[in-house]
Amino acid sequence: MNSKQVILITGASSGFGRLFAETLARKGHIIFATMRDLRKRNAKNASEIRLLAEKESLPIHVLEMDVTDDDSVERAVDAVIANAGCIDVAINNAGYNLSGLAEAVTSEQAQSLMNTNFIGPVRVNRAVLPYMRRQRNGVLIYISSAAGRMVIPSMGFYCASKFALEALAEAYNYELAAQGIESVIVEPGPFETAVFGNTVIAADQARSETYGAVKEVPTKVLSALTTTAVDAQEVADVVLRIIETPGGKKQLRYFVSPHDFGINEINATAIRVQARVPEVFNISADTQVVKDR
Ligand SMILES: NC(=O)c1ccc[n+]([C@@H]2O[C@H](COP(=O)([O-])OP(=O)(O)OC[C@H]3O[C@@H](n4cnc5c(N)ncnc54)[C@H](OP(=O)(O)O)[C@@H]3O)[C@@H](O)[C@H]2O)c1
Repeated sequence: MNSKQVILITGASSGFGRLFAETLARKGHIIFATMRDLRKRNAKNASEIRLLAEKESLPIHVLEMDVTDDDSVERAVDAVIANAGCIDVAINNAGYNLSGLAEAVTSEQAQSLMNTNFIGPVRVNRAVLPYMRRQRNGVLIYISSAAGRMVIPSMGFYCASKFALEALAEAYNYELAAQGIESVIVEPGPFETAVFGNTVIAADQARSETYGAVKEVPTKVLSALTTTAVDAQEVADVVLRIIETPGGKKQLRYFVSPHDFGINEINATAIRVQARVPEVFNISADTQVVKDR
C-alpha cells in the first residue's frame, strides 16, 4: 500500500468534510475535496480551501460533485482518475439533518433526505468501485452517526437514513472484502459543525400542533445536541487514524463522541450476531475475510 493515499471526500465545503481535507492533506495525502455548486453556493468555501492549499502547499484539489446527481458524481470520479490515476479512499460524508415529529415530515422531504444521505453514497460507490476493484484495493468510509445506531425522537427520518447507510455499508463489506476493499463506518456523536444550523425542519407543522407537549420534543432535542457538541477535529483525527491503519487491521465501526450513548455495546452485540449470518446462509467460505472485524 502506498503511504500517500488518493482520497475523494464528499461534502467538503464545510464541517467534517473540510476538516478531513485539511487534516489528511497536511499528512501528505492527495485530496479531492468535492462539493456542490462551486460557482455560487460554495464559491467562497472553494476559494478559501484553494487559498489554504496554496499557502501551505497542500495537495488539495477542489472538484464539483452533487451527490444527488449521477452525472455529477461520475464526472468528479472521472476527473480524479484523469488527474491521479486511481482512488484509494472514498469518504461518504455529505449529508444533512431533518428535524420534526415524523408525521410532520412530508414524503418529498423524506425522499430528499434519503436521496442525499443514503442514495448519495450508493452513487459514489458505484462510480468508484470499478476502479477500486481493478486495483484490488480500496477503502470506503461512511460518515454515519450515533443516530445510525440509536433512535432519537424527532429525528426519525435522519436516523432511518443513517440506519440504512449502516446496513448497506456492512453489506458492501461482506461482498467486497475478498477483493481487498474495506468498508469502515464512523459514528460521530454531536460535534460543532454547521449541521445543526443547516437542519431542515419538518414542513407540515400543522400536524405537530395537535401533539400537545410532544410538539416541543424537536426543539429540545436540537438544543441538547447543539449545546453539548464539541470540537469536530476529534472526528478528523479518527478518520486520519483509520486511513493510516493497514488493510485488514481496520475495525468495521468507529464510534466517536463526547457522550457514551452505549453505542459500543450495540456494536459489540452486532459483531456477535452478524458472525452467525454467514453460517446460517451457508456463505462462510465467501465471507471469511470479514469474520473477525
Ligand atoms: N456534526 C455532527 O454532530 C454530526 C454527527 C453525526 C454525523 N454527522 C454527519 O456528518 C456529515 C457531515 O456533516 P457536518 O456535521 O460536517 O455538517 P455540515 O457542515 O453541514 O456539512 C455537510 C456537508 O454536506 C454537504 N452536502 C449536503 N448535501 C449535499 C449534496 N447534495 N451534494 C454534495 N454535498 C452535499 C454540504 O454542502 P453544502 O455546503 O453545499 O450544503 C456540506 O458540505 C453528515 O453526513 C452528517 O449527517 C454529523
